Amino acid sequence: MAMFKSIFSLLCLFLEFQGTLTLSGTFWHITDQHWDPTYELGGKPEAVCASSGQRPAANAGPFGDYACDSPWHLINSSVYYMKQIMPDPDFIFWTGDDTPHVPDQDLGEEKVLNIVRNLTHIIKKVFPNTKVYSALGNHDYQPKSQFPASSSHIYKQIAEMWSDWLEPSSQVTFQKGGYYTERLLNRTGYRIMVLNTNLYYDQNKLTNNMIDPAGQFHWAEQVLTEASRNKEKVYIIGHVPPGFFEKKRSKPWFRPEFNQRYVDMVQKHHPVIQGQFFGHHHTDSFRMFYDSDDNPISTMFLSPGVTPWKTTLPGVKDGANNPGIRSIEYDTQTLLVQDLVTYYLNLTRSNLGRGGWEKEYRLTESFRLPDASPRSMHRVLQRMADDRCTLQKYYDFNSVSYDLSVCDAACRVDHVCAARAVEFDAYRDCVDEEGAGVVNGASTTLLVSMAISLFWWSW
Ligand SMILES: *[C@@H]1O[C@H](CO)[C@@H](O)[C@H](O)[C@H]1NC(C)=O
Ligand SMILES: *[C@@H]1O[C@H](CO)[C@@H](O)[C@H](O)[C@H]1NC(C)=O
Ligand SMILES: *[C@@H]1O[C@H](CO)[C@@H](O)[C@H](O)[C@H]1NC(C)=O
Ligand SMILES: *[C@@H]1O[C@H](CO)[C@@H](O)[C@H](O)[C@H]1NC(C)=O
Ligand SMILES: [Zn+2]
Ligand SMILES: [Zn+2]
Repeated sequence: MAMFKSIFSLLCLFLEFQGTLTLSGTFWHITDQHWDPTYELGGKPEAVCASSGQRPAANAGPFGDYACDSPWHLINSSVYYMKQIMPDPDFIFWTGDDTPHVPDQDLGEEKVLNIVRNLTHIIKKVFPNTKVYSALGNHDYQPKSQFPASSSHIYKQIAEMWSDWLEPSSQVTFQKGGYYTERLLNRTGYRIMVLNTNLYYDQNKLTNNMIDPAGQFHWAEQVLTEASRNKEKVYIIGHVPPGFFEKKRSKPWFRPEFNQRYVDMVQKHHPVIQGQFFGHHHTDSFRMFYDSDDNPISTMFLSPGVTPWKTTLPGVKDGANNPGIRSIEYDTQTLLVQDLVTYYLNLTRSNLGRGGWEKEYRLTESFRLPDASPRSMHRVLQRMADDRCTLQKYYDFNSVSYDLSVCDAACRVDHVCAARAVEFDAYRDCVDEEGAGVVNGASTTLLVSMAISLFWWSW
C-alpha cells in the first residue's frame, strides 16, 4: 500500500513536471542599446563620448557612464550574458534604438545603417538559431524619427539585413512601412505583430497631417480581425509606446488622434492580444488597458534599456538608469505572460571591477502575484496607488535600481496615472483625482488620528 502510494505521488510529480515542461516557454526582450562608437576612456571627462554632449562623464569605466550611451563592451557583455543565462530562448524581441543620442549631422544614413548592422551581427552571431522579431526605434533612421509613410532606402536596407528573420510576406510590408506580421514561430494559432509606431511619434514631421500613415492601422485592424476569426493568440511589439512618460507629468509621445486609435484598437481586439512589449522609455514600467466597465483587458510591458544614458528631456530630474535586459516566461498554449525576470548591471560597481550582470528581480516574487496577467498587473497598480512600500519597490525598479530616492506624492501621481491611463482624457482625469486624493487622503488620516488622540486624552 505504501509502495503504491509513493509510486503514485512520483507519477503525479512526473506529470506535473511534464505539464510545466510542455506549457511554459521563455524569451528575451531587449531594447534601446544606443551604441556610441565614439566612447573612449583616457581623455577629459567631457570628451569620453559624443552622446554626453559636453556633460562630464565623471565615472566613466569599461562598461560606460551614466552621461553616455553604451560602449561596445557593455553591449557585448549583455548579449553574452543572455547566452549564459538562457542560451536557447524560444525567440527574442528586439525593439530598437541602436544609435547614439547625437545630432543628425554627426551620423548620416551610412553610419546609422552600419550601427544597425553591427548590432544585428552580434545578435545573430551569439544566437544563430534563434528567431528574432525586431522593431525599428526612432533612432534607427536618418534624420532621426523622420520615418516616411512609404517605402524608402533605409526600410529596404534593414529588411535585407534582417532577411534571415523575415518571411517573404514580412519583407514586403517591412519595405513599405517598417511593419510586419507572421505566425509566431510558424505555429498555427499564434501570431506576432511588429509595429512601426515611429509613424505616430509627434516628432515625425512626415506623418503630421496623415490619418493612417503607411496604412498601418488599417492593416493592423485587419490582422487582428483575421486573428480573431482564426482563433489566434497575438503578441504585439513596437518601440515608441502610446500613453504618457511616467517621469514627466503630461508628456505623451503619440499625436492625439494616433493615441486614441491605438487605444480603440486594443479595446476592440483585446481577446486575441495576449501581450504588448515596447521600449523607448529606457525605464521599467507597464501600461494598463481597460474596457468600458473598467475591467483590465491588456498590459503593455515597457522593458528597460541597455544604455544608461541620462535623459536631457527638460523637466526630468536625474533620468539615468542601470543597463537592463528582461526574460519573459509565458504559457505556450495561451500566450499568457506568466512572469518577468529582469537582469541588470550595477554600472558603478561593475566599472570598479566588483560586479557584472545579475538578476534584479522576479515580478511574481517581488510583488507576490500568481502571474503577469492583466488582472495581476492591475493589482500591482492598485497597490502602488494605495501602499507606499509597493510604490517604492516599483520606483526603485523603474530606473533599474539607479535612483533609490523616495517617490513622493507628486511622483506617485506621475507613475500611477501613466500606468493606469493611456488615453489622454483618462490621464488628465487621473491626475486631477489622484492629485486631489493625496491631499484629502492625508488630511483624512490626520483627522482620524487626531480624533483617536483626543478620545484617549479625554479618558
Ligand atoms: C564579448 O564578450 C565575450 C564573453 O565575455 C568575450 O569572450 C569577448 O572577448 C567579448 N568581445 C569583445 C569584442 O569585447
Ligand atoms: C562593425 O562592423 C564593421 C563592418 O562589418 C566592422 O569592421 C567592425 O569591426 C564592427 N564593429 C564592432 C565593434 O563589431
Ligand atoms: C511554416 O509552416 C508551413 C506549413 O504550415 C510550411 O509550409 C512553411 O515552409 C513554414 N515556414 C517556415 C519559414 O518554416
Ligand atoms: C551599486 O553599486 C554601488 C557602488 O558599489 C552601491 O553604492 C550601490 O548601492 C549599488 N546599487 C545597488 C542597487 O545595489
Ligand atoms: Zn532609446
Ligand atoms: Zn526611442
